[in-house]
Order: sequence, then C-alpha cells, then structure tokens
Amino acid sequence: MLHTNLDINEKGHLTFAGVDTVELAKEYKTPLYVLDEQRVREKCRIYIDAMKKYFGEESIPLYASKALSFKEMYKIMKDEGMSVDAVSGGEIYTAKEAGFPMEKVYFHGNNKTDEEIAFAMDCGLGCFMSDCREELQAISRIAGEKGITQKIIMRLTPGIDTHTYEAVRTGQVDSKFGVPIETGQAIELVEYALSLPNIELMGFHCHVGSQVFDGQSFCDSADIMIDFIVLVKEKLGYEAKVLNLGGGYGVRYVEEDPVLDIEESIKEVSEHIKNKCAKAKIDMPRIMMEPGRSIVADAGITLYSVGNVRTIKGYKSYVAVDGGMSDNPRFALYGSLYSVLVANKANEKADFKCDVVGKCCESGDVIAEHINLPHCEKGDYIAVLTTGAYNYSMASNYNRIPRPPIVILKDRKSRIGVKRETYADLVKNDI
Ligand code: LLP
Repeated sequence: MLHTNLDINEKGHLTFAGVDTVELAKEYKTPLYVLDEQRVREKCRIYIDAMKKYFGEESIPLYASKALSFKEMYKIMKDEGMSVDAVSGGEIYTAKEAGFPMEKVYFHGNNKTDEEIAFAMDCGLGCFMSDCREELQAISRIAGEKGITQKIIMRLTPGIDTHTYEAVRTGQVDSKFGVPIETGQAIELVEYALSLPNIELMGFHCHVGSQVFDGQSFCDSADIMIDFIVLVKEKLGYEAKVLNLGGGYGVRYVEEDPVLDIEESIKEVSEHIKNKCAKAKIDMPRIMMEPGRSIVADAGITLYSVGNVRTIKGYKSYVAVDGGMSDNPRFALYGSLYSVLVANKANEKADFKCDVVGKCCESGDVIAEHINLPHCEKGDYIAVLTTGAYNYSMASNYNRIPRPPIVILKDRKSRIGVKRETYADLVKNDI
C-alpha cells in the first residue's frame, strides 16, 4: 500500500489506522475527511528528534499550519512540543482558542494587515516573519504603541528555483514573498530593520518551494543564506542567531512518487550546514524548519460515496462522487495526482478505466483522471489517499456545498474533530 497506515481487512475493505473505512463512511456519512492522529504525532517526532540530533537541542521545528488548521491540530502540536507557523489572523485565532502557547507561534504572510499585526501582538505572539518595508514599519509602530519589543525574522529570497509546480515555487528572485538577496535589497532592508525601534531582529528565513524531494535545495538555499549572514556581519556588524530554512519536503501521492527519508535528508542538510559555517567562520545559527504537508498529508484520507457511473459509449467513463473540488481543489488548481481506491472493493481487480469527478457544476471538478478502479456502482465508497494536507484547509462552499467533517482516529477509536457544516451554517452570515 502507498502508506503504512493503510491495509485491507478480511472483508476486502480498506482500513486506515486499523479502522474499517467502510464502517466509518456508514457511521459518519460521506464525504468525510479522516485523520490518523498517531501518524501526525509520529511525523512531528521524526522532525523533533532528527532536528535535535543533527541541528542541536536549540533547533526549532514549526508546523506550517496552513496545511491543516483546526483546533485539535494545535492541541496535538502543543502536546508534541512543536512550534507553529500561522499565516493569518484566523490561524492565530484558532491556535489561541485551542490553548496553544502563543509565544511558540510564528506569523508569516506577505501582506499582514495592521489589524492582524495588532491582534497577533495582543495575543502575545512569539515572532513575526517579516517580509517587506511597509510591514517592518507597521510592526515597529504598533509595537511602540503597545510598549513592547517584537521579535522578528526577515524573510529573504535566496534565488533558488526548485523543481516543483509553479504555484508553490517561492524561493526565486522575482517571488511575491520575501526580500531578494541578489538585488541588494535584502541587506538594505536589514540595515533599515536594525535602525527601527521596538523590533528585535532574530535572523533570517527562506522557503524555496513545496513538494520538494531533494535535500539539495535546502543545502543550496542554506549556502546562500549563510553567505548572506556573513555579509551582514561584515557590513553591518550584526550576526543572525536564527536561520529558518522553511518547509517543503514532498510526500507520496502516487506510487511513482519517491519515498523520502526525512531523517536522512535532515542529516545531510545538517552536515552541509556545519561545514559551510565552519568555512565561513561563524557559529551555526539556531536552525528552524517549518514542514506542513509532510506532517499531515499521509495522515489523511477522504471518503466519498459513488452517486452514479456514466459511460459515454466509445469515449470514457465517469464515476461521480458526493464531494469534489469543494473539498479538494488540488486537481483543479495544480493538476495534482491522487491515488484512489474503492474502499469496499479494495481487493478487487482494478480494470475499469475512468475519471473520478465531483458534484460541482463545472467540468474542471475532477478528483483523478484516467485511473483504473474495480467496477463500481452507486453506493460504493471511494477513498482518496493522502488528503491530509491542503484539502480541508483549501475547501470552499462553492455551489453552497457544506464542508465535510473531520473524523480523528486514535487507538482504533474515532471521534469528531470538526463537525459537518449544515445548511444553516451556510446562511448564518447572510442578512
Ligand atoms: N513555510 C512557508 C513560508 C510556506 O510558504 C509553506 C508553504 C510552508 C512552510 C509549508 O510547506 P510544506 O511543507 O507544506 O510544503 N496549496 C499548495 C501548497 C502551498 C504551500 C504554500 N507554502 C498545495 O496544495 O500543494
């Protein structure tokens, strides 16, 4: 199976974290997001242990909560000792409501509003990842009004091009994120940040992209960042204490995707950084990484019911499910591939060529194209694998479809993490 938390039981049903997915679909109805809590915890521990081991006790793993944000996730993160990256007032609010320690929240975003900045400070947020002049000014001014000194890390673009899809590439010089090193703007802005009151600059951040499988891009960006740290030290006499390398490790959506050993990759990156720092004659900064997808993606699946199977004679067949781009827009947005199974026929031969499509009113509403499934019919259950990241968090009410609930599995028991939206929820803000 694609991931070790998937199996098939004696009934020929797909199991997830040891639980029969057909039973889950019957009990909670579909569409349904299912989250394997143990897997999330295991992934956190992989990062925490590997980072401690290779980068040192002081290193900080952050969970990029944009991948999956709801209260229980922040509780799990708190429990595991992770810090958190939040990108909006809404994510900060959710973390706060979950009782997450606010000093361990790092606030990202290329265009934080003044209201979000003030709200974050009122919440006692640990650190801002600051990304442009206007924001530095706003943080300094608002922190001054509140009589505090706000810790910040400056987000820079190292000019690295990762081999991933366009929408998630962020490290290149012309990115909308961060300040480019190459053009000289980064050092100018560092000088400016150092001159501002009520700001304490902790160090620098970069994030080169997402769904990246090679540790090499982390090594390449670390090289550029460390050279920059040295330059700033020489020119401005400021030595960065922190280097945040961003997130981005890839996950297996389909069998063809590589298997990535996160611990091994962190080891390689750490050796590279240690050598580089030794050559540059600087102390190794405190290293941060902020994985999102690789923490939660394979801890999630989505279950749907088949509503109809339509064969256009001589052309193709469609299997229509009771969700679609409203709960998983990733095929529509990025052409992302997914592995799909018929949960109640997990042992049967997959020789029915079809597209799995959703119920939204547009042809682009596709979950997976040109795949092979066992012959299926109305009432069968479809499982889409590896949907833990960027599915619920990117879901919408397009076509006024209520968002599915999230059911959390732990020790073979299930509980609701997020309730199913109701029609009443859909109109609650309508006047
Ligand atoms: N740090 C920063 C600054 C980021 O921008 C991101 C992702 C992460 C960390 C976490 O990256 P990860 O480990 O999850 O790859 N919606 C897209 C993904 C967008 C990623 C945006 N930034 C998708 O569904 O593929």
